[in-house]
Amino acid sequence: MKNPMHFQLNGQAVTLDIDDERPLLGVLRGELGLTGTKYGCGAALCGACTVTADGQAVRACKTPLRNVAGKSVVTVEGLMHKGKLSALQQAFIDFGAFQCGYCTSGMLMSATELLHNTPHPTRAVIVGHMERNLCRCGAHQRIVMAIEAAALQRRQLA
Ligand code: FES
Ligand code: FES
Repeated sequence: MKNPMHFQLNGQAVTLDIDDERPLLGVLRGELGLTGTKYGCGAALCGACTVTADGQAVRACKTPLRNVAGKSVVTVEGLMHKGKLSALQQAFIDFGAFQCGYCTSGMLMSATELLHNTPHPTRAVIVGHMERNLCRCGAHQRIVMAIEAAALQRRQLA
């Protein structure tokens, strides 16, 4: 249904007057020009399209726009703060936690959700959480190491 709907996107208020049954992913990449969130499977299976809505990771390819009405959506473009990479983003770089990088934005957003809800995760918890995001390049081990490092850094700063 076409309805004016409002939500926050990376801290900015957004109002759209388009079909709110459309998947969030297409709206982010199309109307809103945020192409950091990727299309992989289109079936809520791979995690390439992961963003957060009110802190919860959602698969934007299968999330109708209406589901985020009134919520605070964060995409990979919203992870930087005052022009500085987040600790998690920096750890991905430091550990070389990607090859082609196609899965990276979804990995970062899933890991952001994890560290938000579980600031001090064990390796097993990280592995279990990140199993839902697929990396065709096989960078999983370095991804887990990067998340561990970011979690450790948060603990040291706390
Ligand atoms: S593109 Fe959404 S889960 Fe794969
Ligand atoms: S780095 Fe290529 S799919 Fe993960």
